[in-house]
Amino acid sequence: MTFSDELVNWYNQNKRDLPWRHTTDAYIIWLSEIILQQTRVEQGLPYFYRFVEKYPTVTDFAAANETEILKLWQGLGYYSRGRNMLKTAQMVQQLYAGKFPTKYSELIKLKGIGEYTASAIASFSSNEPKAVVDGNVYRVIARYLGIFEPINSTQGKKLFQEAADDFLNKKNSAIHNQAIMEFGAMLCKPRNPACGICPVRLNCYAFKHNATAVLPVKLKT
Ligand code: ADE
Repeated sequence: MTFSDELVNWYNQNKRDLPWRHTTDAYIIWLSEIILQQTRVEQGLPYFYRFVEKYPTVTDFAAANETEILKLWQGLGYYSRGRNMLKTAQMVQQLYAGKFPTKYSELIKLKGIGEYTASAIASFSSNEPKAVVDGNVYRVIARYLGIFEPINSTQGKKLFQEAADDFLNKKNSAIHNQAIMEFGAMLCKPRNPACGICPVRLNCYAFKHNATAVLPVKLKT
């Protein structure tokens, strides 16, 4: 089995049931991904439900006013996210007649959507073969391959993106991306990773070399 197959198997047996995993609606996925930037799942969930209920489509969102949105956002922090969302929704309304884009090349042009978020939306909504790289993915790959290049150096970012692209299951990027992130969040955790029950430990550099505590490497900035 490939690394991806192992992670997907693990995911199918251990995943959390999260609402945004039941949809391919790019708008709903966008909402969830922006809310989850710098926010834990448990904290973000109630906000996600409130936003979906109040603005079920991007057209509804685009018609809202900033005060309304910032009020719903209250408690989440990083209020520029809420402001950017309104601008993005209005752009989508104008440029795409309210049909939220699903292609990476279109998503990456929108305000507040960087490489990670564009890859997440493109893969989850239309299975476009784009590998996500977030904090979870950095950790899983650094440990598995034994990459000591700092994750926040220019060279490191390039190296990890290449490794993530190599591991990607191009036929099912949606489930692969969910699986590697869930695996990082739930099993290959920053502290006390559950190596004892890890399905890929026998091929894992950090497990074999007792190096989970020192990987990934991050430069102090
Ligand atoms: N954090 C960011 N995106 C996520 C997702 N799709 N599932 C779980 N946690 C996430």
